[in-house]
This record gives sequence, C-alpha cells and structure tokens, in this order.
Amino acid sequence: MLENNLTLTLQIKFRLNKRRDYKVILDKMLDVLKHEGVVAIATQGEEGPHLANTWNSYVQVTPDDRLLIPAGSMNTTEKNVEKNNQVLITLGSREVEGFHGPGTGFLVKGNAKFVTDGSDFELIKSKFPWARAALEVKVISAKQTL
Ligand SMILES: Cc1cc2nc3c(=O)[nH]c(=O)nc-3n(C[C@H](O)[C@H](O)[C@H](O)COP(=O)(O)O)c2cc1C
Repeated sequence: MLENNLTLTLQIKFRLNKRRDYKVILDKMLDVLKHEGVVAIATQGEEGPHLANTWNSYVQVTPDDRLLIPAGSMNTTEKNVEKNNQVLITLGSREVEGFHGPGTGFLVKGNAKFVTDGSDFELIKSKFPWARAALEVKVISAKQTL
C-alpha cells in the first residue's frame, strides 16, 4: 500500500514537472517569435533534403499549440510534405535570453500539412492576404538548443 502510494505520488510529481517544463519551453518559444528572425523549415524530398524559410513574426501559434505558417509559394515543400509529413524547424533570436546569455533558439520536430480552407486558413489569409495556403505543423517536440 505504502509502495503504491509512493509510486502514485512520484507519477503525479513527474506529470506536474513535465507540464511545468512544457510551459517554460512554450513561453520561451513565444518570446522568440515576438522578435524578428529567420525560421528554417526542412523537409525530405526524393532528391534529398529541402529548406524553405519564413519569418519569426509570421508564425502563428494556435490555442492548441500548433504552428501555422503562410505559404505564398513553398511548392516543393508541399510536394515533399505530401510524401513525408515530417518536418524539422529551427528558429531563434539573439534578443532573447538563452542558456549562456543573450541568444536562444529551438529545434522543433513536427508533422505538417498544407491547409487551404477552414478557420486555420482564414486566420492566415486575414494576416497574409498573399498566402495560398497555411502550412500547419503539429509539434511533436521542441528542444531549446542554445
Ligand atoms: C527570410 C525568408 C522568409 C520567407 N518567408 C516565406 C513565407 O513566409 N512564405 C513563403 O511561402 N515563402 C517564404 N520565403 C521563401 C521560401 O523560403 C521558399 O524559397 C519559397 O516559398 C519556395 O518554396 P519551395 O522551395 O518549397 O517551393 C521566405 C524566404 C526567406 C529567405
């Protein structure tokens, strides 16, 4: 009984810790996105890896923590995502405090798709009228790398 209680307590503490870590990471990432910088979006194509970019300030974070990115072109990125939806994204800012002083950034792993209708697309279109689609990224992990 005592052992069971201890296990339960540890599990709950672990979950709370995880949740707190998650919030700390998310807040830091939101802070980075408030500062301008270049975002790199890597996909895998038949001919090898592919990189596209956006700006930090263009990345919209939904209430359920998905990323929405305006696609004006990104045709190769779309073709790649149709075959393999795994994306890697890096983003950073020198103006946000990192592990060693000013400068921080993240490596985000996610699953992507291009969305051309619905509320996510409408949100992107309202902010970026030139967007032909929203690149939606469901975040699998986000690691602070600096
Ligand atoms: C700093 C920077 C920001 C960019 N922002 C966007 C963007 O928000 N949306 C977009 O479609 N392309 C953007 N581009 C262009 C893309 O990186 C990419 O070259 C273009 O969309 C073609 O994509 P593709 O190679 O997947 O076909 C940006 C390029 C740079 C250098």
